[in-house]
Amino acid sequence: MSDSQIEIDWNSAREVNRKNWEDRVPLHEEAYAVSELDDPSHLTEVIRTDLAALAPFLPHGTVSGLDVCHLQCHIGTDTLSLVRAGAQVTGVDFSSGALTSAATLGERLGLEATWVETDVLEARAAVEGHFDLVYTSIGTINWLPDLDRWASQVEGLLRAGGTFYIRDGHPSLYSVDEHADGLQLRYPYFAHHDAQVWDQESTYAGEGKVANSRSYQWAHPLSEIINSLIGAGLQILRVDENKSIPWKFSPRMVRSSDGFSWPESERELVPCTYTIIARKAAG
Ligand SMILES: C[S@@+](CC[C@H](N)C(=O)[O-])C[C@H]1O[C@@H](n2cnc3c(N)ncnc32)[C@H](O)[C@@H]1O
Repeated sequence: MSDSQIEIDWNSAREVNRKNWEDRVPLHEEAYAVSELDDPSHLTEVIRTDLAALAPFLPHGTVSGLDVCHLQCHIGTDTLSLVRAGAQVTGVDFSSGALTSAATLGERLGLEATWVETDVLEARAAVEGHFDLVYTSIGTINWLPDLDRWASQVEGLLRAGGTFYIRDGHPSLYSVDEHADGLQLRYPYFAHHDAQVWDQESTYAGEGKVANSRSYQWAHPLSEIINSLIGAGLQILRVDENKSIPWKFSPRMVRSSDGFSWPESERELVPCTYTIIARKAAG
């Protein structure tokens, strides 16, 4: 829960966030359904959903054979699913623990990927090469203060004609009080220079607690997200707003076919996630 905002420079905020994410790694290794990947045909639910949405925008309807850069890849469950779907994948994250965990999982499953440790806002300089698809999803840009800088990394990583894909929590959902008895607005929708301060020992998956409980996040309205991509020179191909989300955002949410949704009587009232597909102009 965050009811305060503070002015903080990016290097300090990033370091606080990085420590918080390092602490989450062992908890998520336990709580994510990692062992499901032991089935050689298994892809995570997130990747199954996203590949279906992406297919009409890919040259042959598949990521097979494509060079993919997965930004903010965490412990690699989605990254390795993309490898399993036939792509050559580079996973990018600023948490060394998350990347070690991802690499270990890849070795165990016999799935090869390249792992790059960097702040996503410096990804263009840290990652080698250009990509047919830059992919990021589910818990990403809320950790970043500057979407113009983020979008310019995405643009720089793409090949001419390459595709960008994001699916993430809808900014309208992030305005909702997750603990209220009914749908109630609590947090600012519009972009704010200051960071939202979160002090939370628990994480969204599993029961354990983190020692570094402080983190900083930033609200980004849908207009800011779309305009950052347009500003970086990308062409927006599609925008969708969805009624389910892969994690239980509020204790009042109920399980649905592809994640969690509000109870049926509230499902039409507020979107849960958005999807944006964009393209870099062909050379
Ligand atoms: C919620 S996870 C998203 C990944 C994916 N949806 C999953 O659940 O596996 C967020 C990831 O973003 C990473 N992250 C946060 N801020 C970052 C930054 N500035 N640069 C690079 N990675 C960052 C964290 O380390 C974490 O692995």
